[in-house]
Amino acid sequence: MNAAPDSFIELGARERAAALLDADGARELLGPFDGLESPWLPRQGIVPQADDGVVVLRGRLGGAEAVALAIEGRFQGGSIGEVGGAKLAGALELALRDCEAGRPVLPLLLLETGGVRLQEANLGLAAIADIQAAVVALRAHVPVIAVIGGMVGCFGGMSLVAALCSHVVMTRQARLGMNGPEVIEQEAGLEELDSADRKLVWQLIGGAQRCATGLADALVDDDVAQVRDAVRQLAAAPRPEPRSAAVARYAALVAQAATEPALDAAGMRALWAAQC
Ligand code: COA
Repeated sequence: MNAAPDSFIELGARERAAALLDADGARELLGPFDGLESPWLPRQGIVPQADDGVVVLRGRLGGAEAVALAIEGRFQGGSIGEVGGAKLAGALELALRDCEAGRPVLPLLLLETGGVRLQEANLGLAAIADIQAAVVALRAHVPVIAVIGGMVGCFGGMSLVAALCSHVVMTRQARLGMNGPEVIEQEAGLEELDSADRKLVWQLIGGAQRCATGLADALVDDDVAQVRDAVRQLAAAPRPEPRSAAVARYAALVAQAATEPALDAAGMRALWAAQC
C-alpha cells in the first residue's frame, strides 16, 4: 500500500509558507502577536483574527532570498480586507525596494482566496490595486510565483493578481476564476452554470483545465514535495513573457471563444491547443 501523501491542502497558511521555504532561518513579519486585525469585522458582528488571515514569512528558497505570502482560506474564505491587503502590498513593495537596490528577493504568493472581502469592499479593492502594481513591477526583476493549493481556490481581484504573476502552480483540487460559481449562478442564472455540479465546475475552472488552457503553468498533486519541487524549478527557469503582456494573443483567443453555444471545457482545450 502506498504511504499517504504529505498533503499541502490540509496545511494552514503559516504551515504552507514554512513548508515551501528552506527549513532554516525563516521569520514571520507582522505575526499574530503584533495584533494587526481588521477594525471593520467586529462592527459587523464578526470575530477578527490576529493576523487578518495573511502570513508573511521572510526566508530563503533554494538558498535565495525570498518572501512567502500565504492567505488563510479558513478565515473569512481567504478574503482580502484592509489589513491583510496592506500586509501583502507592503511585503511586496519591500521586496521591490530590495530588488531595485540590487538585492533580489523572490516573492512567493500562496493564494487561497475568495477575492475582495465583501465586508471591507472598497479598502480591499484599493489594496488589490497596490498588490497588482507591485507584482507587475517585481516581475521585471525576479520571477513572481503563485501557488493555488485548494480547496477555496483563487477568485475575484486576486485571480487577476495570479494572472499577472510570472508562473502559476495549481493542484487539481484548486480553482481559478474571476467570479465564484455561486456568484455566476446567482447573477446569470442556472442555465449559465449550475454551481452544485462540482464535476462541471472543476472541468471549467479546476487546476487541470487551467494548466491545459495556458492560464497556469504547473499541475501538481496535493503533495508538499511536489509543490516545493515545482516552485523551485520555476524559480530557476527563465522568466517567460508575462501573460498580461501578450494582449494580442489573448484578445484573439477571447474573440474565438465567444461562440454560441458557449464552448465547453474540451472546446477550450482544443482552442488553446490550436494556438500553440
Ligand atoms: N468576502 C467575504 N467572505 C467570503 C468571500 C469574500 N469575497 N469569499 C468567501 N467568503 C466566505 C463565505 O461567505 C463563507 O463564509 P461562512 O463560512 O461564514 O459562510 C466562507 O468564506 C467559505 O465560502 P463558501 O462559499 O462556503 O466556500 P466554497 O468552497 O463553497 O466557495 C468560493 C468558495 C470562493 C468559490 C465562494 O465563496 C465564492 O464564490 N466567493 C465569491 C468569489 C467572488 O466572486 N469574488 C469576487 C469578489 S471581487
